[in-house]
Amino acid sequence: MSQLHVSTTINGDAVEFLCDPRETLLDALRDRAGLTGSKEGCGSGDCGACSVMLDGRLVCSCLVLGAEAQGREVETIEGMAEGEQLHPLQRKFLEHAALQCGVCTPGFLVAAKALLEKHPDPSEEEVRYWLAGNLCRCTGYDKIVRAVLDAAAEVRGS
Ligand code: FES
Ligand code: FES
Repeated sequence: MSQLHVSTTINGDAVEFLCDPRETLLDALRDRAGLTGSKEGCGSGDCGACSVMLDGRLVCSCLVLGAEAQGREVETIEGMAEGEQLHPLQRKFLEHAALQCGVCTPGFLVAAKALLEKHPDPSEEEVRYWLAGNLCRCTGYDKIVRAVLDAAAEVRGS
């Protein structure tokens, strides 16, 4: 099968890669661009582990084709920290022990960041509703919600 040449922007950097026409954006990110932070939990749009931003919109990268990144802006978990400086959400996840595994956490962080950009002052209910598409098998939701609310307060205060 002939491959497609894709020119895109990932975390602010111009990136080019070749991918198969039916290859998902998740696989292209991981296998072509070397960005393995986005995870495959289900491959069917049910778990949120593969969450990325595409032109400012939260998407499941397992449901998007790599070719669809052509000419667009992709943001992944790798672009969340600024150098050594963790994003407030990343710090609060650590402080609240809101993570137990590396599979669901990147998706939770990317989705939570999208929420705070839209709603800087979400209620607990809104956080739970927004993150309903991100699944954790360890029932760690409570700490995750506390971490997101705490990060929101910190971002608002800064
Ligand atoms: S891997 Fe994409 S939603 Fe689960
Ligand atoms: S902490 Fe990742 S699945 Fe529960």
